[in-house]
Amino acid sequence: MPDTTAEDHQRLDGRPEWSALAEHRDRLGDIHLRDLFSADPDRARRYTVQVGDLHLDYSKHLVTDETLRLLRDLAAATDVAGLRDAMFRGERINTTEGRAVLHTALRAPADAVVKVDGHDVVPDVHAVLERMAGFADRVRSGEWRGYTGEPISTVVNIGIGGSDLGPAMAYEALRSFTRDGPATRFVSNVDGSDLHEALRDLDPATTLFVVASKTFGTIETISNATSAREWLLSGLGGDPAAVAAHFVAVSTNADKVARFGIDTANMFEFWDWVGGRYSYDSAIGLSLMIAIGPARFREMLDGFRLVDEHFRTAPLEANAPVLLALLGIWYGEFHDAQSHAVLPYSHYLSRFTAYLQQLDMESNGKSVDRDGRPVAWETGPVVWGTPGTNGQHAYFQLLHQGTKLVPADLIGFARPGAELAPGLAAQHDLLMANLFAQGQALAFGKTAAEVEAEGVPLDQVPHRTFRGDRPTTTIIAPELTPSVLGQLIALYEHKVFVQGAVWDIDSFDQWGVELGKALATRIEPALSSGAPVPGLDASTTELVRLYRSLRDR
Ligand code: F6P
Repeated sequence: MPDTTAEDHQRLDGRPEWSALAEHRDRLGDIHLRDLFSADPDRARRYTVQVGDLHLDYSKHLVTDETLRLLRDLAAATDVAGLRDAMFRGERINTTEGRAVLHTALRAPADAVVKVDGHDVVPDVHAVLERMAGFADRVRSGEWRGYTGEPISTVVNIGIGGSDLGPAMAYEALRSFTRDGPATRFVSNVDGSDLHEALRDLDPATTLFVVASKTFGTIETISNATSAREWLLSGLGGDPAAVAAHFVAVSTNADKVARFGIDTANMFEFWDWVGGRYSYDSAIGLSLMIAIGPARFREMLDGFRLVDEHFRTAPLEANAPVLLALLGIWYGEFHDAQSHAVLPYSHYLSRFTAYLQQLDMESNGKSVDRDGRPVAWETGPVVWGTPGTNGQHAYFQLLHQGTKLVPADLIGFARPGAELAPGLAAQHDLLMANLFAQGQALAFGKTAAEVEAEGVPLDQVPHRTFRGDRPTTTIIAPELTPSVLGQLIALYEHKVFVQGAVWDIDSFDQWGVELGKALATRIEPALSSGAPVPGLDASTTELVRLYRSLRDR
């Protein structure tokens, strides 16, 4: 792996490229996008990159050619390309867990060779994809029968985090491609209401559960799966043999799957070199594949692959994930931006930002470098957002006139879903007009002089003035298809990778979620049986007491 030994491992903030950026930022001062655009009529064209179906306009960013050059210098100095190549080669770049990071192998073509410890994993990937496709076809065609001989009408995916967010997001995104498959629901929360609402109107005889868990030890998933099994058995007369016809598993842990009571013949495998948040194009996507069908799932994988190839081969100056990553670093470190908004102008992408929250924040929410030393620079931002038009009537006020700088991605499509009736399809222009209007207003604002010229009373002018200079990337694609979704997700996966590489952090572990899990396991007996919990702090002890007294009143 490149550049990781303690002696020659230079700290990011000690690099001349880092200081050069800081100096450049001071020199730039308060440049305005209005000036940058008027100085360069060609800016919109020059600051655009096309990757597959994705058209990325990054001209509305607070950068000049020099900024971009200095950012690229930083990427070169931190050997982003070297780490990228090590990832694609299957090296163990997830150092704290000693694992390779090979989600890119999940969409490698059948004739590719990707080795982990000398073993080519590509045939394994394609063998599982084949099994998934065979199973998905059987469920979709009605050939797969439940315990009472009826075909499956609803698939319930039980999983959490990466074993839920990916397929759940993609199911929503590709809803219009699911009409010829069974209905699909997703249950993740250990709050029993989640499973209750999902199962309330379902018939056990026609319900299939996909229990998705990389470890098969996640308490939320195992609790929900256990309750689902009880629901199924009580609805079907109690014969444990019914489980085999209604439960399949997706996991890396065959022992635990068997111990749970699921036949490992009905288990779809993936591997420890697939991180949970990078897993939805593995067998974790089984419920999605059942919903959209194997052919569309493959189209989605092709979309991922297209961007993988771009990321692997495009020069830094035209490499879309690299550009997005560097822009994020520019704002986080040199403009004090704390968050990043992702604002899709597509109802189908309603879960997209929630998915990206795990991808980005679980990957780059770190504060020690790869050698375990505290970082002295900003790492991952808070990622947030909802579909844009809804946000416009909620939090966009802050984006336009608040004191915080929030860089944003505006994502839209030229064509609406093919299913829309002509009247509804006609609304699409209005939707996209909103996207373009927001990008324009955020960037260029409205000066006091412009407001005054409208005859606004002078005391009102400051309130109605928009400073502008709020940066956005606009991402436009022809239509939201399985391939385009794959392209979008791979774009963000690699963006997160590049940022982690520059920040010198391990983007592929998630130790930060462990403490809360362990404490919940310790505290639970105090709630259920009043057992004393040694070492519980005074505040939590009192909250536990209050909870029990309110509950048992
Ligand atoms: O939240 C921590 C985490 O380990 C995620 O990284 C993962 O996606 C999720 O839990 C679910 O884990 P599993 O698939 O093992 O149930």
